[in-house]
Amino acid sequence: MKTSRRTILKSGLNLAAAAATPTLIFPKTRMGYSHSEIEAHLKDGNGLTRSDLVTPCLVLDLDAFEANLSKMAAHCKTSKINLRPHGKSHKCPEIAARQIKAGAIGLSVATIREAEAMAAAGIKGMLITSELVGRPKIVRLLKMLPKAPDTMVVVDNLSHAQELNDAAAAARLKLNVLIDVDPGSRRTGVASGAPTIAFAEKLMKMPSLKLRGFHCYSGSSAHITGFDARRQHSANAMLPAIETFNQLKKNGLPLEILSGGSTGTYNIDPGFNGMTELQCGSYVFMDVEYQMIGGQSNEKFYDDFASSLTVMATVISRNHADRATTDAGIKSFATDRKFGPNFKDLTGARVMITSDEHGTILLDNPSRDLKVGDRLEFIVPHCDPNVNLYDRMYCVSGEKVVDTWRIVGRHGD
Ligand SMILES: Cc1ncc(COP(=O)(O)O)c(C=O)c1O
Repeated sequence: MKTSRRTILKSGLNLAAAAATPTLIFPKTRMGYSHSEIEAHLKDGNGLTRSDLVTPCLVLDLDAFEANLSKMAAHCKTSKINLRPHGKSHKCPEIAARQIKAGAIGLSVATIREAEAMAAAGIKGMLITSELVGRPKIVRLLKMLPKAPDTMVVVDNLSHAQELNDAAAAARLKLNVLIDVDPGSRRTGVASGAPTIAFAEKLMKMPSLKLRGFHCYSGSSAHITGFDARRQHSANAMLPAIETFNQLKKNGLPLEILSGGSTGTYNIDPGFNGMTELQCGSYVFMDVEYQMIGGQSNEKFYDDFASSLTVMATVISRNHADRATTDAGIKSFATDRKFGPNFKDLTGARVMITSDEHGTILLDNPSRDLKVGDRLEFIVPHCDPNVNLYDRMYCVSGEKVVDTWRIVGRHGD
C-alpha cells in the first residue's frame, strides 16, 4: 500500500511508512503548530496545553473571565441598572454572546465595522457610540440594519441628524438614535441643559428618527485615581446630563435610555439614580492601567475584577546574567501608555518593550530563574488597543487550551 505524505503526517512517527517513503517525517510533537493547525486540533477534540501555543499570543483565562462576567452581571442586577457592555474592548462575538447570556441587554460598539461584524454573528441590541458621519458609513449602517434593526446610533449635530433621517426615509426605515451629551470632556456631544433640550426638540420632528434617549460617556472619569476622587469626577460629568434627561421627560419626551459609565465607575454611576444602563468594557479582561487606579476597598490596587487577559511570550535568549530576551516586543503590546506590561507571575524583574520583536526582561532579583524556552505571561498595559493587535485569543482553563476565539472588526472604520 502506498502511504501518502498526509497519512504520515497524520499518524505521527510511523516507522514502517518512513521506510517506504523518502518524505521527511515529523515526529508527533506537541510543539510547532500554526494558529490554524491549533484550531483544527481543537475542533477534532485533541487536547492541547499552553505549551503548544505559538508565541507571542493572546491568552484568555476562562475562569477569571467567567468570574468577571458573573460579578458585573450580579452587580447590575442588584443595582437595578442595565448593562450594554462595550465590545470595543474585546471585538469578539463569542464574548458578546456570553455577556448577553449573562444578562446584558445588548452590546455597545465603537465603529461601523464592529457593528457589522457583531450583526453578522447575530448580536442584537447594539449601540454605536461614535458618530457615523459621512455617506459611506451611513450607507453601511442602513445595509446592516436588516440584520440588527434595533441598533442605535449617537448624534450631536443637526445636519448629521438630517442626513441620517433622509437616508433612513429613503430606505423606508426608522433609525433609533441617542443624543450624544457632552460630559464636559469636549470630545463629542451636545452640552447638557438648554442646548440638549433644543436639540432634542428638533430631533423629535424628524420622522425617520426615533429618539430613544441619551448617550453620555465620561471617559475622563474612568481612570481617576482614588475612589472618592473618581466618584466626584463622575458626579460632575453625569449629574448635568441626568438633570437634562429628567427635564425632557417632564416635558413629555418619551426618553427611555441614559447610557454611560465605565469599568472605573461601574459601582459609582448607579448611585446617581438616573442612568438606565452601563457600558463598561474593560472589566472582562482588566489591564495595567486599571489596576493602578485603586478600588473602593483596596486603595492601592483595583482588584474588583480579575486579570483574565495576557500576552504569552517565550524567552529566546539568555546570555547575560542580568537580563533575558523574549519574542514579544512593540508589535505585541499596545504602546499608547507611558507604562508597559506587568508580569503575571514574576516579581523582582522589569520589562522594557523597545524593540519590534523583542522584549527585554531586566532581572533585578527575580522570583524564579529564566532559561531559553521558558514562557512568560504579561498583563497588557491597555486592553482595547492590545486586543486590536491580534486576530484571535486562546482560551485556557488551567494548563489546557480549550478554545480559540476570533477578534473581528479590527480596522478603524
Ligand atoms: C464610549 C465608550 N463607552 C464605554 C467604554 C468602556 O470603558 P471601559 O473599558 O473603561 O470600561 C469606552 C472605552 O473607551 C468608550 O469609549
